[in-house]
Amino acid sequence: MNRAEAKKRIDVLKKEINHHRYLYHVLDKIEISDGAHDSLKKELFDLENEFSDLATDDSPTQRVGGEALKKFEKVEHKERMLSLNDAFSDEDMNDWVKRLENYAKSEDFRLPQIEYFAEIKMDGLAISLLYKEGVLDRAITRGDGRVGEDVTAQIKTIDAIPLRLRETKKVDWKRNIEIRGEIYMKKSVFEKLNKSAKKSGGQVLSNPRNAAAGSIRQLDPKLTAARKLSFYAYDVKTDFGQKTHEESHEIAQALGVPVNPLAKRFDSVEKVLKYFHAFEGEAREKLDYLADGMVVHVNDNVLYKKFGSIGKAPRASLAMKWPAQEVTTVVESIGVQVGRTGALTPVARVTPVNVAGVVVSNVTLHNIDQIRRLDVREGDTVIVRRAGDVIPEIVRVLDRMRKKGAQEYDLPKECPVCGEHVKRKAAASKKGNSVAVFCPNKKCLAKQSRALKHFVSKKGFNIDGLSVKILDRFVEEGFIHDFASVFELEREKIAPLFGFGEISAENIVTEANDRKRVSLNQFFVALGIEHVGEETARDLAERVATSDAAQSHKPSFLLKYFDGKSEEDLSQWRDIGPVVAASIKKWFDDEDHQKLINRFDDVGVVLLMPDAHAGGDRFEGKTFVFTGELVEMSRDEAKKRIRALGGKATTSVSKKTDYVVAGDNPGSKFDKAQKLGVIILNEGEFIKLIS
Ligand code: IVH
Repeated sequence: MNRAEAKKRIDVLKKEINHHRYLYHVLDKIEISDGAHDSLKKELFDLENEFSDLATDDSPTQRVGGEALKKFEKVEHKERMLSLNDAFSDEDMNDWVKRLENYAKSEDFRLPQIEYFAEIKMDGLAISLLYKEGVLDRAITRGDGRVGEDVTAQIKTIDAIPLRLRETKKVDWKRNIEIRGEIYMKKSVFEKLNKSAKKSGGQVLSNPRNAAAGSIRQLDPKLTAARKLSFYAYDVKTDFGQKTHEESHEIAQALGVPVNPLAKRFDSVEKVLKYFHAFEGEAREKLDYLADGMVVHVNDNVLYKKFGSIGKAPRASLAMKWPAQEVTTVVESIGVQVGRTGALTPVARVTPVNVAGVVVSNVTLHNIDQIRRLDVREGDTVIVRRAGDVIPEIVRVLDRMRKKGAQEYDLPKECPVCGEHVKRKAAASKKGNSVAVFCPNKKCLAKQSRALKHFVSKKGFNIDGLSVKILDRFVEEGFIHDFASVFELEREKIAPLFGFGEISAENIVTEANDRKRVSLNQFFVALGIEHVGEETARDLAERVATSDAAQSHKPSFLLKYFDGKSEEDLSQWRDIGPVVAASIKKWFDDEDHQKLINRFDDVGVVLLMPDAHAGGDRFEGKTFVFTGELVEMSRDEAKKRIRALGGKATTSVSKKTDYVVAGDNPGSKFDKAQKLGVIILNEGEFIKLIS
């Protein structure tokens, strides 16, 4: 991105973020999740880092909180309610510790082994509770950190918050005491409320966080009471001489104020990280409240104070975020995948992003109805979501950020794999009736994944590293549209795909290139002509190799060769019956197959003629059958050796069989050979015979 482009993007991002901040902080409304909001901010932050002269004081990255609502009385906090710096990875966490160490060095104070205190970062609403003579006097929302709103009447409705502190010997509970913590709505409560709201036609709440914030902002405290909110304290601001953050938690508890029982002390960063990661995934889902990560503090209060704060966040605290389940990214293009049934599925190719711990670069759009519903267009900034093991999906388009002139998307008229005109048919789905678009071409490679697998298999071109899954993927991506395109794969296109990378891309391309020189018999096998297996392919190859046409090593010589042969000609050949002959003839008469053979010329496939009886003709006319497991060599290897010596390997024992080679655990062929009196060799005898 150049500077001009960056400036444009920064302006768009700022506008969007400010819009959502206003909704969120001032109006208590959410249009996008915190994760999505964070990722917009992250993009802005990164751009401002890269183009530092474009970072201005009014940027949302420089600001915390929002303005207070007018309907409640504004109150200034005695001590600012600070915010926290975020960490998104182990690396961020380790960097934080390094920063602490460097700071201690620069300020010249001795840093002992740091102890940490980690607690769940709940996703609710921050509140400051002021107690006088043990009685709840005032409750103030965070507001912009300096000035909040008096919501005492509302807070008094929350059972979890004591109206009178418990008397305790631990501290002087009659002093003016300030306790800070998080108001939240339990997920279970949220679901119950929504269930009955749906029944009675009442207001349906969008999520527990929004529900908690909305409930506190009700001018009528009775409405707040009906919402059954909860509360956990996370700090005691009053100085009782407590030495650690942990002790503040103990004091809160002693005073009858609930604290989250999952809060814990640790003696190393590694242990904190282990605890942090243990909650990712299922454990996090199981918590009965929304939480987006953990807050870690330097536990020692003397040390904590020494570290002070930088900007609006204390140095000695860190918010560690679990991977966001919703993030924003940009749709670079919309492509189409053709499945094995021929169905065309639109896919958004997005700028790769990490969603809940997985890098996502392709997001399915399911069908054209879904595209219309979301109105996704190329270039759009979108919110991508992935919860648990669910496949990623686009939740919505941030259409205010759309570039001018962005066109509505339409599926292509032609199949991207074979070029055939696509067809539409009505399809009923759970979400109502829709239109399915599919490729009607039976020969479309998208429907031929087995044929393609056979083509690259050991018996065919023997290209390692191309599993069915990878082949399907390449077909879907449009990299492979016929057999020949296997040799046109490009490293630059494969490497960026999810699950690949430079090295595996390089390996695949090199391997395919190395296999362009192929024996004529393997080539015949690879084509997948009906009734042409390894043996027939060998016979064919030997025949063809002796013809004049075989001077050329280009596959197209076969077209000339078979053009001049009738079905009868072919069936005259030893070992080739009329059925096989018809099948071969039919294959080479097919125009698509002729095109394919010419394509092999173009991509540089070279046919190697069989060196007829390279090893002599010691076994001319002899047939071998194998049973059981060989130890010294594979069965394929053994068969190769026999053929090289002019012999044949077949699969069933008859009177005509000359030798049966029996390895370990031989099967019924062994018994049959005994019955028919065929010579039976063990592996050692066989090896002697061929060497
Ligand atoms: S400690 C200096 N602990 O996260 C700030 N905050 O930016 C000290 N939050 O809106 C905050 N759970 O309300 C802390 N266990 C926890 C928390 C927590 C949620 C919220 C807090 C604030 C934001 C911090």
